[in-house]
Amino acid sequence: MTTETNAKIEFTPERQVLAKEIIARYPEGKQKSALLPLLHLAQEQWGWTSPEVMDYVAGLLSIEPVEVYEVATFYTMFHLDPVGKHVIEYCRTGPCCLMGAEDVYAHLKQKLGIDAGQTTPDGKFTLKEVECLAACGMGPVFQIREQYYMHLTNQRVDEIIEELSK
Ligand code: FES
Repeated sequence: MTTETNAKIEFTPERQVLAKEIIARYPEGKQKSALLPLLHLAQEQWGWTSPEVMDYVAGLLSIEPVEVYEVATFYTMFHLDPVGKHVIEYCRTGPCCLMGAEDVYAHLKQKLGIDAGQTTPDGKFTLKEVECLAACGMGPVFQIREQYYMHLTNQRVDEIIEELSK
């Protein structure tokens, strides 16, 4: 995964095959339904969904670029700017706050030296605020890719960051 787009925006041959398979799952004229999986595929390859990448996806689906932009900007799982190796998406919604999330996130920000929406100078971590991650009973919680980290404390945050920094 890279945080920069290639000069020529094109899926790898393997992803081109996969993209065709995904598009073929939907009836003729309903190819737009493949938009979310194609955006995930794109982000997997380029690390973020740049305007050029979104235009490429629009071309694959024969839809207007704005139709891709409006979806990619709605869902927080799509990164609209280059990101670090580990994107920490922390839940800022009420139930997690009641469990002490604000103090834990303040510690996380201090430890990394960055705020939400920023990336550490070494490119290892990006912080992103998100809404409820559907693990409210186990807050404070953050997500890194598909992995959830729950019942967070300052000490647990330190352990996770040290582990991921190796
Ligand atoms: Fe944080 Fe739901 S409020 S996971």
